[in-house]
Amino acid sequence: MRKPAETELEIHELLKQRWSPLAFAETPVTPATLRRLFEAARWTPSSYNEQPWRFIVGTKEGDPETYGKIRDTLVPSNQSWAQTAPVLILGVARTTFSHNDAPNSAALYDLGQAVANLTLQASELDLLIHQMGGYDRDGARAAFEIPDTYALAAVLALGYEGDPSRLADEKLQARHSEPVRPRRPLPEIVLSGDGGAFGTPSPLLGPP
Ligand SMILES: Cc1cc2nc3c(=O)[nH]c(=O)nc-3n(C[C@H](O)[C@H](O)[C@H](O)COP(=O)(O)O)c2cc1C
Repeated sequence: MRKPAETELEIHELLKQRWSPLAFAETPVTPATLRRLFEAARWTPSSYNEQPWRFIVGTKEGDPETYGKIRDTLVPSNQSWAQTAPVLILGVARTTFSHNDAPNSAALYDLGQAVANLTLQASELDLLIHQMGGYDRDGARAAFEIPDTYALAAVLALGYEGDPSRLADEKLQARHSEPVRPRRPLPEIVLSGDGGAFGTPSPLLGPP
């Protein structure tokens, strides 16, 4: 199924078609396709061109051990659906600059941009991604021996969209098929700095 964003104005088709499914198809994602996704992430801009992102990736077919370790860190409510995905990815960011070891306050910001690029490339290849913050960070750090100089961000479930009947119960199936996708209105997120209190909508967008 498709769940195109009901936008107020035209936006790029790839942005419109992206959504976070719960049910994924069994169809594996080939190594060549995975490479393309990470190539998209690689070309993301970053502070000092540090490229702080690192992706720990597991697939059911190619690297079931890594896949299983990531899956086991997920909170049960995420594990229940995410295990339908053929690929799980843990995104982490190096929080110090490699040229002087000073703190890099942009590390997570940069990783987020890299994931956004990866997600749009996935969209072009008819793949979908569902990100998750609900997982055991300490458990993941221990399982993958991630140094303290790396911050753990989100786990990504990746794959082709699947039939909701693959999900364990009706509640999950209903969530997968829920058509409403709430978004804040533009005046709440685009603000003016011209004298008013923080939160004043910008007049630059004009009348709706
Ligand atoms: C950093 C991050 C963490 C998230 N954590 C979870 C999660 O733990 N479980 C979940 O079901 N969805 C999670 N989501 C998915 C969001 O709920 C989803 O993106 C949002 O509701 C908008 O829906 P859409 O992606 O279909 O537009 C997360 C998304 C992001 C970006």
